[in-house]
Amino acid sequence: MNEHVRAEARHPETLPAAWYSDPAFWPRERERIFRRQWQLFAREAELAGPGDYLAGDVAGWPILVRRGQDGRLHGFHNLCRHRAAMLVPDGKGCRKGIVCPYHSWSYHDDGRLRIAPSFVPGPDFDPAEFGLIPVSVDVWRGLVFVALEPAQSLADWIRPIDARSRRYPLEDMHFHRTVELEIPVNWKAFGDNYAEAYHVPAVHPGLMASLDLKSYRVHTHEAEAYQVHEAAKREGGLSDGLWVWKFPGLFLNMYDWGMNVARMEVPDPRRIRLVYWYFFTDMDPARKAWREEVFQWSVKIGQEDKDAIIGVQRNLDAGIYRTGRLSSLVENGVVQWQDWIRKELGKAA
Ligand code: FES
Ligand SMILES: [Fe+2]
Repeated sequence: MNEHVRAEARHPETLPAAWYSDPAFWPRERERIFRRQWQLFAREAELAGPGDYLAGDVAGWPILVRRGQDGRLHGFHNLCRHRAAMLVPDGKGCRKGIVCPYHSWSYHDDGRLRIAPSFVPGPDFDPAEFGLIPVSVDVWRGLVFVALEPAQSLADWIRPIDARSRRYPLEDMHFHRTVELEIPVNWKAFGDNYAEAYHVPAVHPGLMASLDLKSYRVHTHEAEAYQVHEAAKREGGLSDGLWVWKFPGLFLNMYDWGMNVARMEVPDPRRIRLVYWYFFTDMDPARKAWREEVFQWSVKIGQEDKDAIIGVQRNLDAGIYRTGRLSSLVENGVVQWQDWIRKELGKAA
């Protein structure tokens, strides 16, 4: 670090601890952030045939995406318009039609109400008013995204990171495995940790042994709300890294051996569920042991982060710590992420 850079160091304040522990923030975060942002929801390969569906949670909203007999993907709130039953349980499946398991109302592929047994259309019941509530669905490079009220199209939302990840041909890679990690922390604490490599020497011995940490850079892109991290491989290391994170919850973790795509599900303000899909480029049967080594190396990094942030969350809840300071040099990604949170939550509803 030269003296010129040192002179420019600033130490902005962190988000207050209460933002991670006070449940009053959650309704505002759902409305101002999660309602408007695209969320990665599925791999298109999971929804290949007519009737294939996937149901899951998006920031506390049960969501259903299903491929209709027309071959198109349709997204809905997983919510029957009669008395609010879930139409299908969370998870994957294939159904010829959409029939509510509670009192058997059924719906067309596009969500229109088809049959409501024993109900008679009339002045107090117009079936046209009781269709499923749609959500936006779109696909990018074999990944299915949903949004409740997107501020922009998926193509526009994803454009800046599309270019950054183009040299990693996700479509041509081989799906390897899914890893799920549930962490009992507020979603912003996960972001804070992801946004910097300042913790790598202390927390991640395996990553440290692989990367040339001196080459690690975090590039922030305020207008398009994403950041890019990159680091070269150390001599003899297992992997390099290029990490692209589009706020709030899309992570493209790219390596010379393949990539994992992660989505952050936020079912409530006290918990996140991370779903990682691993892809490899080299599927040579002779290299199976190497793939397993790389895979385990990567999974371990996630576990190490989990342990670190659970402790942080405990202290954010305990009420002693109020705010801290960040380094604009080695935590510039955290500064950008937290500024983005402040800006989004400050926006008029
Ligand atoms: S709640 Fe769905 S049919 Fe009654
Ligand atoms: Fe980490």
